[in-house]
Amino acid sequence: MNFQLTEEQEMLRKMVRDFAKNEVEPTAAERDEEERFDREIFDQMAELGLTGIPWPEEYGGIGSDFVSYVIAVEELSRVCASTGVTLSAHISLASWPLYKYGNEEQKKTFLYQLAQGEKLGAYALSEPGAGSDVASMKTMAKKDGDHYVLNGNKVWITNGGVGDIYIVFAKTDADANHKGISAFIVEKGTPGFTFGKKEKKLGIRSSPTTELIFEDCKIPASNLLGNEGDGFKIAMTTLDGGRNGIAAQALGISQGALDAAVGYAKEREQFGKPIAQNQGISFKLADMATDIESARLLTYQAAWLESEGKPYGKASAMSKLFAGDAAMRITTEAVQVFGGYGYTKDYPVERYMRDAKITQIYEGTNEIQRLVIGRMLTKE
Ligand code: CAA
Ligand code: FAD
Repeated sequence: MNFQLTEEQEMLRKMVRDFAKNEVEPTAAERDEEERFDREIFDQMAELGLTGIPWPEEYGGIGSDFVSYVIAVEELSRVCASTGVTLSAHISLASWPLYKYGNEEQKKTFLYQLAQGEKLGAYALSEPGAGSDVASMKTMAKKDGDHYVLNGNKVWITNGGVGDIYIVFAKTDADANHKGISAFIVEKGTPGFTFGKKEKKLGIRSSPTTELIFEDCKIPASNLLGNEGDGFKIAMTTLDGGRNGIAAQALGISQGALDAAVGYAKEREQFGKPIAQNQGISFKLADMATDIESARLLTYQAAWLESEGKPYGKASAMSKLFAGDAAMRITTEAVQVFGGYGYTKDYPVERYMRDAKITQIYEGTNEIQRLVIGRMLTKE
């Protein structure tokens, strides 16, 4: 067993850490306050090759692996969880299904543009009445000659509005439950495709979350991803890996919170000594650090399994479950270490705590992760 990262992975970590510190962190609080997405940060990530980390060069990527990818999401989320999920949704949710299920032409056009960062990707599965229960979706896609016509609404879409390429799931057979779902590539600007409400959120406020509206939206039949009826399988296998991207986001948030808490506990004096010298505080820091190492091992392991072509669905559900729950514990304790100051916007820990909450909700709530893990255990 080898727990050593490769030289390439270490170099990528250093590059992303420097970029995050110099270019992302300085505006993180302000973007959060203003609920402002900054496309320039995405363009800078593209210049560094981060938008196509795991994809081969022929499809516009840098030919690296999934461990490098989770390291990048971790390091970005350490300073700004919104930037972390922008990249995670772009790679895991929009690009992955194109790489896995796209035909050569779809990969050479759409995946290439995403990997190069010329275009930003998004993944549209959830609907007002179909969150955890994906198969109950209502959006329809009707075949009409060499087109499909889409009608329906998607909600909660990360990178919604600012994204250029959307992987959209819709029913091609309304009566066939999950077997009637298909996946489509829909480009921004297609007539009949508009954006609705942009959500006002507790956390990840500089990551836009937006409703998508399809009204007689005609897309070429060649934009069908896989075959008709493959949509549920495409959605689920995409989430198998995507969930590990959220584990990496949770891990980064937790590390950022611990870094801040350790720094503060060494500086802040009460009763004539730094608060870190109280066992009550140092035990909190020890528990936080232990949670983080556990989350990191699960997350890197799931990414390694995917890179090695081994089954990773259960590992990824476990990493997301553990890292998300741990992030909530860790960030809550970080605010506690800061006392009253932690409750204000003078320090970043309140933002980490607000951002951590989403990692227990999206890409399948943590109750759904338990359901997925439980079903796999009983099938094995
Ligand atoms: N891989 C391959 N096949 C799978 C699969 C997987 N991971 N999971 C299920 N299937 C197959 C099953 O084997 C079954 O196959 P058959 O038709 O041959 O029987 C079929 O799919 C139906 O499976 P289930 O009976 O398990 O389906 P279900 O309706 O009970 O739903 C669920 C299962 C796990 C709850 C699923 O609906 C689910 O994942 N819900 C959560 C939704 C979610 O995670 N949404 C995230 C949206 S994206 C997001 O949030 C973005 C962001 O973070 C940025
Ligand atoms: P519900 O499914 O209504 O669940 C409500 C509660 O019931 C939860 O606690 C849930 O765990 C519990 N519950 C439901 N079913 C069960 C069960 N069988 N057993 C036990 N408990 C259960 N979706 C996309 O498609 N693309 C995106 O890019 C995207 N980004 C998002 C970004 C944000 C900020 C948010 C908030 C959501 C995003 N989502 C996205 C949607 C997200 O995946 C859903 O919100 C999530 O899957 C839960 O669905 P729901 O909100 O409808 O909750």
